[in-house]
Amino acid sequence: MSGSPAVATNDRKASIGEHVNVRTTAAWNQEYTRQGIPSSHREEPSGVLVWALDNLRHLTDGPMSAAVDLGCGTGRNSAAMAATGITVSAIDLSDVAIATARNRYADADIDFRVGSVVEPLPFKTGSFQFAADIFVYFHQLSDVDRRRYRREIHRVLEPGGLLLVSLATDGDGYYGSCEKMPNWRDISAVPLTWDPAAEVGNILPTYDEFLVEFSDMFDFQMSWRKRKFGDMHGKRYLRETVAMLWQAVARPAV
Ligand SMILES: C[S@@+](CC[C@H](N)C(=O)[O-])C[C@H]1O[C@@H](n2cnc3c(N)ncnc32)[C@H](O)[C@@H]1O
Repeated sequence: MSGSPAVATNDRKASIGEHVNVRTTAAWNQEYTRQGIPSSHREEPSGVLVWALDNLRHLTDGPMSAAVDLGCGTGRNSAAMAATGITVSAIDLSDVAIATARNRYADADIDFRVGSVVEPLPFKTGSFQFAADIFVYFHQLSDVDRRRYRREIHRVLEPGGLLLVSLATDGDGYYGSCEKMPNWRDISAVPLTWDPAAEVGNILPTYDEFLVEFSDMFDFQMSWRKRKFGDMHGKRYLRETVAMLWQAVARPAV
């Protein structure tokens, strides 16, 4: 690892609530303008999506027809799914990212929408066989928001539908060295950190906390723990990311 994130100033992280409710859209639009993290500028699909698509065919009976890309950013993963013949819906908080996605993939049959994943999702119950969340759940800070989001994912998936979630854990060289947000215990069971460069907050679970988090509504299928050097905000870090594939349990989520 080289370097460590700058210390966040008190006024920037003064209120967790402020970051959760007010600053997030502006911060993400700003990030898509600055392009400090890899997913803001990359056009090739995430490695974890390629891993998931490769393994999904062993976990499903037939080909998938419909999928949703949650927090799709500029649409690189939506496009990769659409290229396999899947009908894709996609949603992201950032109107800047969605405008780029619509422009970049104008020829693909992808329904890109602006919206928040912690609001009721604008999709019918049981619409999808597969849902992908690649570094989006990671940015949902409160237990309440994350539970609401899990319940919505469960609702829009078919019974037995599959979910990919990928995030950085506490072993990540960049996020693991970010400062914990003050009073994180007030709203979250897992630590919250503050990324001063992107100006967004993140959850930073251990692998085991990640496993526990989804087990209220999903059955664990498989995981991939990836460690490799990668660039963040122009510096090189030893990154550790984890992807997990889950299956929606048949019983209704409470
Ligand atoms: C690290 S980027 C990943 C983007 C995309 N999944 C990818 O892999 O290219 C995180 C994305 O989550 C989006 N996001 C954060 N909170 C969100 C929310 N509550 N609802 C919808 N999108 C959200 C951001 O706008 C951003 O595009």
